Formats: sequence, structure tokens, C-alpha cells
Amino acid sequence: MSTAVASEAAARPLNVVVFVGSLRKGSYNAAIARALPALAPEGLTFTILEGLGDLPHYDADLQAQGFPPKVLELAQAVSAADAVAFVTPEYNYSIPGFLKNAIDWLSRVSPAPFAGKPALIQSASMGVLGGVRAQYHLRQILVFLDAIPLNKPEVIIGAVHSKIDAAGELTDQPTRDFIATQLTNFAAFIRRLQP
Ligand code: FNR
Repeated sequence: MSTAVASEAAARPLNVVVFVGSLRKGSYNAAIARALPALAPEGLTFTILEGLGDLPHYDADLQAQGFPPKVLELAQAVSAADAVAFVTPEYNYSIPGFLKNAIDWLSRVSPAPFAGKPALIQSASMGVLGGVRAQYHLRQILVFLDAIPLNKPEVIIGAVHSKIDAAGELTDQPTRDFIATQLTNFAAFIRRLQP
């Protein structure tokens, strides 16, 4: 282990909260999100956010009656995290509606939970383009949220059905290696951004 890597591992652990953009039980994107801890450098941990699909549709009148408790719970989880990650499919060239809805709710909470947060983006699709168009829509959304996305490397996983086995394990070694590289870069990115 190099001195730089050793000192990073010894530094304070970093927790990343993960938004998974699919509610499907057999979701490939959820399978990738579950694989992250095993591919991460020491000191980087992940918490997958649950219940994103249970939020009501965003409605300012509903907000005026008070934020739903689940929204406040999610906002608190994001605020307390060192960083956020999105692992999402592409729906009609964008991100799935429930994910946008969750982001919309959280974006109304004060103080802004996403502001200044390092953000990681991954997408997977059965098509060859791997959800890249959803990634670029998401990047646009992150501008308004004032989050700070890692630019490179971009993890865009095409033909994902051939890279995950029947048990939901990410088995494709080049994909595993590439995600590991991205996570190593992300850990360094988070630490650079921290005061
Ligand atoms: C899709 N899918 C899809 N794929 C893609 O590459 N580009 C797209 O624009 C779309 N659009 C789209 C819309 C809707 C409504 C559905 C249901 C699906 C296919 C999608 O990426 C594929 O089903 C993924 O496997 C879904 O991700 P999970 O659920 O496996 O994580």
C-alpha cells in the first residue's frame, strides 16, 4: 500500500447515501448498488436509501401542510452523509419519475441537503448506451441542487443483463474493475472537497 493510500484509509470513514433509480425487485441497477461496498476502497461505506417510491407526488400545497416525515428523514440522511450516489436506469432518455419526485421533494427542504455534496453517478441498461442520456439529465438537475458531481470516470453499463447473474451478482470483471477505479477516484474527490 502506498503512503498516500495508507493515510487515506486511516482517515475518517466516508459514508455515501445511494439513490437507486429502480423499484423493481430484480433491478440490475439495485444489483450494482449492492455491489459497491465490495468494490470500494477502505474507508468508503454505502447506505442505500429506502422508501423513495413511497413519497407522494410533489405538491406545493402538500408541502405547505408540512413535509411528509419520510421526506425529512431522507433529507436528514443526505445532509448527514459525506456524499451521494445515484445508480439509475434510463427511462425515456431521462431518470425515472419517482427518482425525480424524490429529488424534487428534497430540493425544497432547508438547509438544502444536496448543496455542496460530492455526487457519484452510475447507470445501467440492457441497451448498448447504458443509460448515458439519463446521466446527462441527472447532471443538469444536479446543477440546480448545487451538488458537485465527479466528472470522470463515467460508469455507464450497457448490456447489463449479460453482466449480472441469476442471483443478482455483478459478475463481469471489467465492469467490477472499472467501478472500483471510479470509487477510488470518488473517495479522493470527497476528501479533496472536505474542509
Ligand atoms: C426503459 N428502458 C430504457 N432503456 C434505455 O437504455 N433507454 C431508455 O430510454 C429506456 N426507456 C425505458 C422506459 C421505461 C418506462 C422502461 C420501463 C424501461 C429499459 C430499461 O433501461 C431497462 O428495463 C433496465 O433494465 C431497467 O433498470 P432496472 O430496473 O433493471 O434497474
